[in-house]
Order: sequence, then C-alpha cells, then structure tokens
Amino acid sequence: MAGHSDRRSLGLRAVRRRGPVRAEPRSPSRGSEGPEQKVPSRRSRAELLRTSHSTTLHTPTPITSAPAGTARAQTEKEISVRDIEPVQAAQQLRQAFGCFPSGVTALCAYRDGEPVGLAASSFTSVSMDPPLVSVCIQHTSTTWPKLRDRPRLGLSVLAEGQDEICARLASKGGDRFAGVDWFASDDGSVFVEGATLWLDCTIQEEVPCGDHDIVLLGIQGLSAVLDTSPLVFHASRFRRLASI
Ligand SMILES: Cc1cc2nc3c(=O)[nH]c(=O)nc-3n(C[C@H](O)[C@H](O)[C@H](O)COP(=O)(O)O)c2cc1C
Repeated sequence: MAGHSDRRSLGLRAVRRRGPVRAEPRSPSRGSEGPEQKVPSRRSRAELLRTSHSTTLHTPTPITSAPAGTARAQTEKEISVRDIEPVQAAQQLRQAFGCFPSGVTALCAYRDGEPVGLAASSFTSVSMDPPLVSVCIQHTSTTWPKLRDRPRLGLSVLAEGQDEICARLASKGGDRFAGVDWFASDDGSVFVEGATLWLDCTIQEEVPCGDHDIVLLGIQGLSAVLDTSPLVFHASRFRRLASI
C-alpha cells in the first residue's frame, strides 16, 4: 500500500483545515432584508473548492420537513480539501500507474512458422455477454503489427513464478520464446504452459487512445486452472499474492 511518504513523493500535499462551524441564517424572502439579517453566501461548492481551502461549506437551508433541532446538522457539512497537483512528468505518471497492482498476460500467436508475442499487464475483463476482455498496446510496439492480422490470439495469464518468462516476452532482443514452454491451438493461438488462465481470442475492435490502442478481444474458448496463483505486477516489481 502506498503510505503517506509515497504520496509526498508523487507531489500530493495534504491540506486539512477545519474552520469554525457556524449556523447560517435562512435566506430571507425577497424584500424582507433588514439590517440584522445577513444573506448567506450563495457560492457553489465548485467555486469554494477553486478559491478556498476552508472546509466549512454552507448549503442552503431546506425549506420543508426539517424536524426541530436538526436544521444545524443538516445545513452544514465539514469536508476535507486537498491539493492535487497537475501531471508534470512521465516518471510521475508511471509511478502513479504503478500504484495499481495487476496481473501479467502473454499475448501470442503463431506466424510464419514461429511463435510471436509480448507481455501485457494492461489486461482487463470487459463484458460477460458477449465475453470480452481488453489489453492496451503502445503504438510503438513492433510485435503488435505481427499479431493483429492473426485469426486467433492466445492470451495466457501468467502464474506465480513466471516472472522470468514475462521479462523474456517483453525483451527487445533475442528469441523471446527461448526457454519458454508453449503450445498452439489449431487456429494458431499460442499459449504459455503453466499459466493460470488461457483465453482463445479474436480481435473485436481496436480503439486508438492517446499513445496506446485499446484492443477488445472476444473470448472464443478458455481454460482456467483455479488453484494456480497468478503473477502480480506492482510498482515495477513482480510480487506474489498473500491471503489476509
Ligand atoms: C510487466 C510488463 C508489462 C507490460 N505491459 C504492456 C502492456 O500492457 N502494453 C504494451 O503495449 N506493452 C507492455 N509491455 C511491454 C511489452 O511487453 C514489450 O516490451 C513492448 O511491446 C516492446 O516490444 P515490441 O516492440 O516487440 O512490441 C509490458 C512489459 C512488461 C515487462
């Protein structure tokens, strides 16, 4: 879990100031304003957040059905306001994304007599009906063009202990499948042996998004090994699950 010091390193600064809690008078009806009656501020919550760190927000008094003695509690709320700094650097963003733990998948297919594939941690389940999952592929990938015209793609959710396989499937040089146990389906999907889940997929849609494409994959078949723990990727490190 990211602790307080981690938040600081990401440039987040906690500000918590409590202002005095005061009851505001009800808005007088038009034309009845006297010297003793103050009109409560009509600033919106958004405006307050933009312009002040004060934490006491005054909402208009409800006109009806407030039981006697509860109006004060209902009309004032104290909230905590913090500064969230804008995105300034790629490293900051990378660290931020790394706060979210994920599994790691291998997306592979058979092409020109050999397996091709890459490691992807951006895997997400998307839809039950129809069954869809997604991965995000960076536009600079040199492997994706070799995968995207395949009739089927094999997606393997890597298991605990398969971190070296993951590193190999992400490597820039050399044979990515050297030392990797794999098998293929008749349709050319390639799967990693020992993974915790195999999904036999077709490409349903590619949606360009920023510097990545969201690739929607239709699930045509699957095989899950439910008692095998997955590999976990968090904060640029491989980890293992622990029960709580
Ligand atoms: C743990 C891990 C997760 C990765 N996840 C993704 C991902 O979700 N999407 C992606 O495009 N690349 C991801 N990569 C990078 C690719 O595996 C690969 O290195 C990259 O596509 C460059 O190789 P290529 O030019 O052969 O495609 C990941 C790498 C690692 C080590």
